[in-house]
Amino acid sequence: MTRLSGIPVVPGLPVIGSALDLALRPHAFLSDLPRYGDLSAARLGPTRAFFVSHPDLVHQMLVTDADRYARGRIFEKIKPLLGEGLVMSDGAFHRRQRRMVCPAFRHSRLVAYAGVIQDVAERRVSAWAPGRPLDLVRELQELGFDVASNLLFSDGIDPQVMAVIRRSFPTVLASVMRRTLAPTDLYEKIPTRANRAFATAARELHEAVDTVVARYRERGGDGDDLFSALLAARDKQTGRPMTDRQIHDEVVSVLTAGGETTGTALTWAAHFVSHRPEVAERLSREVDEVLHGKPARHESLADLVYTRRVVTETLRLYPPVWMLTRQAVTDTRLGGHAIPAGSTLFHSSYAIQRDPRFFTRPHDFDPDRWLPERVGPAQRHAYMPFGRGVHGCVGEQVGWMELVIVLSTIARLWRLVPVPGAPVRPVFRTNVLPRRLLVIPEPR
Ligand code: HEM
Repeated sequence: MTRLSGIPVVPGLPVIGSALDLALRPHAFLSDLPRYGDLSAARLGPTRAFFVSHPDLVHQMLVTDADRYARGRIFEKIKPLLGEGLVMSDGAFHRRQRRMVCPAFRHSRLVAYAGVIQDVAERRVSAWAPGRPLDLVRELQELGFDVASNLLFSDGIDPQVMAVIRRSFPTVLASVMRRTLAPTDLYEKIPTRANRAFATAARELHEAVDTVVARYRERGGDGDDLFSALLAARDKQTGRPMTDRQIHDEVVSVLTAGGETTGTALTWAAHFVSHRPEVAERLSREVDEVLHGKPARHESLADLVYTRRVVTETLRLYPPVWMLTRQAVTDTRLGGHAIPAGSTLFHSSYAIQRDPRFFTRPHDFDPDRWLPERVGPAQRHAYMPFGRGVHGCVGEQVGWMELVIVLSTIARLWRLVPVPGAPVRPVFRTNVLPRRLLVIPEPR
């Protein structure tokens, strides 16, 4: 086997190396990597990249040695398009910004957020038409954006502006992932139809967010929503609030990070529930016992233990953020190997969370593997759907609440019957989603 400074190199095609494999069959490519080692290298066109396949090394990179790595390629692609919000920034700027944004996600605010999430879930899920096929990919993506925008702006966003944001986001995000996986930057410089659509979508998105921010500033927030918290935030050192530009970028950041991720996780959860009657049955029973036919409240969430295990297992098999990049900012060492400054490193929660070294029968959907008596430190260590360290998900608690609340709302009101003959295959883009998920909601 060829080695690069002692690191095994994955064999690839002449010239392009493994670029096509990574772009077209990322799940198969990434899952195969432990064969070569916990750290491997592969050629992607003219460049080389490293692939980190063990949770210990991911932890070292994201937590212990976090100051030796920047976000890397995916974020270089995003930054010029989506600005410098928390999801896109790095280094000292990111640390300062994160300190300002964190209070918006404090525990004391979660009760109010739970109410907002439940209201949106109730409004949307109770409006489903009984007996009529429903595409849950579309519906739950919209619900995810609806929740994120209502968490930001308590009286919602003008429906016309929201329609522009919803329309532009998928185009922007799909293009970002294509650009990240492309072996050269050549593709994005050609004025193809996709690139033109992307430029238009990015422009429309920023204009729409500017409109929302300006209108909301005029009216003033209610003090309980995320936008009010962003307006109230002060830099500890200078005492200054965020500039308009920073607020704009943080709004885009929350919509980017908080909309599609939750919509994606909910889609897979609904898929598993609709295809596994025994899971649906236990879920409905728990929801009936805990909620007694009423909407979930913040204080009921701790009792929805099976619902939470269903969510946990869904995020194991289909972590919405399935792959991330980092870039070494200095010469460093990882797993005993030298990593030169400037190197790109990929890691995939999707591959690690399906690795048989850490999870028995890793492809089975088994919510009970998360029972306290069955789960051990090795599984907890390998479980990373919300990332880790300085860039770990700032909205993690909100994310968990949202998934449990929406899933319990669906289970309270509906039985989901899969439409026969409609295949459900994951497509790996910015998030991993099926093209469609057709179900027939039957009232319970
Ligand atoms: C199922 C739901 C969610 C999943 C799976 C998820 C996953 C992630 C992951 C993996 C990261 C780390 C990215 C990295 O290491 O570079 C992240 C960061 C982030 N997430 Fe989430 N997220 C979810 C929901 C949310 C929600 C609901 C919000 C906000 C309302 C949010 C806001 C953010 C922000 C702002 C960051 C950037 C943090 C930073 O770099 O400091 N996320 N998320």
